[in-house]
Amino acid sequence: MASIARTSLHQVSKRLYPAGFASLSFLNSLPKHKNNFLRTPLPRLARPAISSNREYSHSHSHSHSYTTSTPSRMANLTASTFLEYVKNRRTYYPLSKDISLSADQVDDIVKVAMQHVPSSYNSQSNRVVVLQGAHHEKLWDMISEVLRAVVPEEQWKSTAERMAWFKGAAGTILFFIDQDVVRGMQDRFPLYAEGFPGWAGQSAGMLQFALWTALEAEGLGANLQHYNPLADENIAAEWNVPRTWQLNAQLVFGGRTGETYPKESKPAEETVKSFRD
Ligand SMILES: Cc1cc2nc3c(=O)[nH]c(=O)nc-3n(C[C@H](O)[C@H](O)[C@H](O)COP(=O)(O)O)c2cc1C
Repeated sequence: MASIARTSLHQVSKRLYPAGFASLSFLNSLPKHKNNFLRTPLPRLARPAISSNREYSHSHSHSHSYTTSTPSRMANLTASTFLEYVKNRRTYYPLSKDISLSADQVDDIVKVAMQHVPSSYNSQSNRVVVLQGAHHEKLWDMISEVLRAVVPEEQWKSTAERMAWFKGAAGTILFFIDQDVVRGMQDRFPLYAEGFPGWAGQSAGMLQFALWTALEAEGLGANLQHYNPLADENIAAEWNVPRTWQLNAQLVFGGRTGETYPKESKPAEETVKSFRD
């Protein structure tokens, strides 16, 4: 998606916002744990809900098999609670450096999501680099510099404004797909070779969604950017990223500086078909 050409969401939000935007009010009704690093503790983070160690083997028609354990039903975590988090996730910018989580807490959230987000055949092709503080600022200086050389003069003002927004945030999570893993899966399962790049992208999207939602559940704001592949080489050199990791997206996070705009959603009648006996 061409981020460069995007209309300013901030301007849109200033124009449209907000009659009756329901954001975080539901969080106040959730129980708070004094000593938990999360503002709104999720039972699985605080206490893993895996009560059964029953291992099972799941065989696919292509005779690949793997084992995993079955989580029990999770106390306190219902679909409606989860869907409140889903509804609460929005695009926010500009963002500030003022956040309620420490750098370690952000890393912990990333690590938990990384281990539990699904991937095709459990191939685990996702890779992440978390940049906070001066590293985050360096990233956006780097991307600005690359853009300065390619963005037409008349568009530079709005691009520079966006760059300032991103740099002004607290951190950026860089999402990569390890192409070594994708190629390995293609070699192992030639019949499905064409599917693996797309499935790796889907798994990356699931990880992005999980982290976007988790950070916003903590009261932060975030937005998803795609300035790859413009600065890929500079990023790889600066943060020692293996050559096989291909940059897929950037999730910028920070403190919210305002509300987002009300979003229009297509009616479900247009987008969902449902059949039952
Ligand atoms: C796959 C994907 C790519 C996106 N790319 C960008 C992007 O490059 N720049 C940006 O500012 N927002 C990007 N967005 C954010 C969308 O514009 C935004 O999610 C959408 O307008 C709905 O708004 P919401 O996030 O507030 O629900 C992207 C979102 C998705 C899911």
